[in-house]
Amino acid sequence: MTKQDFLIPCWLGLICASCVLGTTFLWTDGLSAEAGATSWVQFLGRFHPLTLHLPIGLFSGLCLLEAVYFFKRNPGIRLAADLLLSLTVLSAIVAACLGLFLFANGDYTGPTADRHKWLGLGFAVGTILLAAAQLQRDRAAGKAYLPLLVVLLAVMSLAGHFGGSLTHGSSYLTEYAPAWLKQHLEAQPEEPEQQAAAVVEEDDFYRHTIDPILQQYCIKCHGPDKQKSDYRVDSYEYLLLAGKNEETPIVPGEPHNSYLVQLLWLHESHDMAMPPEGKPRPSADEILTITHWVANGARGPAESAVEKQAREAHEQAQ
Ligand code: HEC
Repeated sequence: MTKQDFLIPCWLGLICASCVLGTTFLWTDGLSAEAGATSWVQFLGRFHPLTLHLPIGLFSGLCLLEAVYFFKRNPGIRLAADLLLSLTVLSAIVAACLGLFLFANGDYTGPTADRHKWLGLGFAVGTILLAAAQLQRDRAAGKAYLPLLVVLLAVMSLAGHFGGSLTHGSSYLTEYAPAWLKQHLEAQPEEPEQQAAAVVEEDDFYRHTIDPILQQYCIKCHGPDKQKSDYRVDSYEYLLLAGKNEETPIVPGEPHNSYLVQLLWLHESHDMAMPPEGKPRPSADEILTITHWVANGARGPAESAVEKQAREAHEQAQ
């Protein structure tokens, strides 16, 4: 077989890969906007975490071989690198399509999920371009190959980082780091709202007692990284906003009518029990504490000294 014969199936393969990715993207985009995913889309989506490590490994191997080939132009290494490249494209398309299925389920929303989605898609599209550049290696377009390889390495690392934050929470890597290292690595609070929280009033039951329980048991799925059922507990304002089920989570003074309290009291084996079965659960004491807090009016965070000053200044000005 001449080199020319070999090129045609390669180009056809790349065109097919682009079509599969493009169709899946458009189709799943429509799904999540409308009725939600069908059950086999949900089923296949769960294979995304399993398959995504394949393109990562293959692409890392490719980068390594390219580094060796850069210094030692050996035809055997070239052949191995080209083989890895084609497998990288194939596995990246599979992982990206399954990722789109998982995304269509609607469990992953918010900025971290969006970043992961676009970077992952960018990586899959990038591998197709990379293979196209490699097919053109004897022409001018082939010059794009090495720069693109470096860019894709960065894109893959970032996509992997945001994906990891989605599944394990953003502090997963640093949780057990030595204190001095942790101090440097962990993100500082961004929102002024959180900074103000440092100045806590004496009688601030929400900040002292309620928020820490929610942080411990709920934030992983209902926080800045993941918003299961479109519900968040990471601020008092969010806590009161209904999620996808449109049931009022907290009715001050009426724990029996508060959806969040109802879910907390469900038996662990119940479908809607919060946290879901198998996840760390608040103790009976902690559940009672939240219930009492709702029964007593579910008071929000007390004004910090700073907020009080600002409010008084505002009132005086009027
Ligand atoms: C492991 C992930 C996970 C954890 C941890 C978790 N939840 Fe959930 N939560 C979910 C999922 C998934 C749903 C959607 C369930 C459904 O509708 O079938 C949900 C739904 C909810 C809803 C309903 C929102 C709506 O209106 O649709 C509330 C309220 C809720 N959770 C509160 C909590 C509280 C309070 C905690 C902590 C004590 C908690 N959750 C911990 C995954 C989690």
